[in-house]
Parts: sequence; C-alpha cells; structure tokens
Amino acid sequence: MEIITKISDLRTKIKEWKKEGKTIGFVPTMGFLHEGHASLLKRCREENDIAITSNFVNPTQFGPNEDLEAYPRDFEKDCQLCKNIGIDVVFHPEPSEMYNNPYTYVNIDTLSSTLCGKSRPIHFKGVCTVVTKLFNIVTPDRAYFGEKDAQQLAIIKKMVKDLNFDIEIVGCPIIRENDGLAKSSRNTYLNSEERKAALCLSKAIMKGKEIISHATTPEIVLNEMTKIIENEPLAKIDYISMVGLDDMQPVKEINKDILVAMAVYIGKTRLIDNFIYKV
Ligand code: PAF
Repeated sequence: MEIITKISDLRTKIKEWKKEGKTIGFVPTMGFLHEGHASLLKRCREENDIAITSNFVNPTQFGPNEDLEAYPRDFEKDCQLCKNIGIDVVFHPEPSEMYNNPYTYVNIDTLSSTLCGKSRPIHFKGVCTVVTKLFNIVTPDRAYFGEKDAQQLAIIKKMVKDLNFDIEIVGCPIIRENDGLAKSSRNTYLNSEERKAALCLSKAIMKGKEIISHATTPEIVLNEMTKIIENEPLAKIDYISMVGLDDMQPVKEINKDILVAMAVYIGKTRLIDNFIYKV
C-alpha cells in the first residue's frame, strides 16, 4: 500500500493503471476510520482492480464554529486498517495541496436547502467542492459513500448527473454498534452517560420504521419519533424531518420514496441517523 501526499504523484500512478485498462474504485473519507468506512473500503476492494481512498479532513465543509480543529484523527491506525483490507493507495494531502487561495466552488441548490444543509449552511458547498476536486484527481470508475450521510449521498448523485461525471456512485448501508447506535467518527466525543443517551436516535429510527407503513400522515411518524428524543434529558433536536428522496424537500403525504432523517445534539455532539422508506 502506498501513501501519496501530492496530486501530481497520484495522477502519474493513475495514468499508468488506466493505460493497463485497470478499473479504479474510490472511497473519499475524512479519516478516523470505523467499521462503517471499512464496509465501503471492502466493497471498493472487491469490485475494482485498484482501490484508492482519500484521508483528508476537508476544512471547507466546516462552519466557523464547528469542530474542524477537534475533529478526531488517527492516521497510523487508519493506514493499518486500509492495509489489512488491501487498499492500494491512501491519498493524504495537506490542506495547502488541495486549496491554494481558491475562487472556484461547486454548489448545489434545492437538495442542500433542508436537513443538514439548513443547519450547516456552507457544509455541502465544501463537500461538493472537495468531492469534485477528488473526482478530478482520482478519475474513478466507481465511488463509494455511506447511507448514514443520506443527504450527502443524494447530493453527490445529483451533482455527478448534473456535471456529467462518468462515475458510478455506490451507496452502502449504515453500520451500527450492537446496541443500535450508528457508527460515526463523532461517537468518540461522547462520555459514557452521553453514549447511553445517544441510543435515543436509533430507538426513534426503529419506532419510525415500525409505524410508517400504516401511518396516514408524516406528522404521525415524526411526532412519535420526537417523543422518544424528547424523553432523553441530554438530547436536543436539531431537526427530525421527512423529505422526498429525489429532492430532499419536506413531504405532506407518504406517497413516494422518502428519507426520514434527524440530527440530534447529545451534549455538545451533533449526531445524525436516518432510514429510507420506499413505497
Ligand atoms: O463523508 C465524508 O466523510 C466527507 O463529507 C467526504 C465525502 C469525505 C468529503 O470530505
């Protein structure tokens, strides 16, 4: 496995592989890898001749008061995991290698106006920009994203379609701890009391899944889910919403494929979870 820090070095390698007709799979990450990432990396390894991952905490997707500095990092452990999975390249650029006083950004309307995009106004502009740059550098055949970040996945799929990237976007299921909590790099911020409290997210998700097929309105589902979160003293709801899977806009009826998504603060830690309901 090679660790590459320079864009030009990665491009040289990729040109050689492309000349040999090899397919390239890509998993963009911000590091501090957990089993959720491992599932994407394994699938990427299985489905492509060459498996590349990026490990880059992208500054442009963090707002001014967010956790960019505190974001957990453990590059050595990440590399060990990638090596065990058989990843060919870990791309680990410095921020200055990725951003040199840029004036160009990629943004997406509508799909980023709700849910996390509403609470974190510059977030998806940063995500779309860095993913576009990484796609242009790596030029993968397939790229893998987790369904835990369901809005991000919908946005990347739309961006790829709108900007004519010749890349297949593969969504991979949420990986959970044994007790139900969705795996996330941010779970590491939780103390033991908060870790227990965080279970209210997956409990609300389970409740939503259980009642949605016989609920007549979105409110019935959302109210039941809200009650579960509100019962937990350490939890504070950022949002709980039901949106169309195609446009990420709130739905009035449950008559198309939808995403039920939530962001909840447990203490100072903002966690997300969701489920998809197909009619
Ligand atoms: O999902 C993430 O970890 C990030 O948003 C991504 C896609 C790696 C872009 O920085």
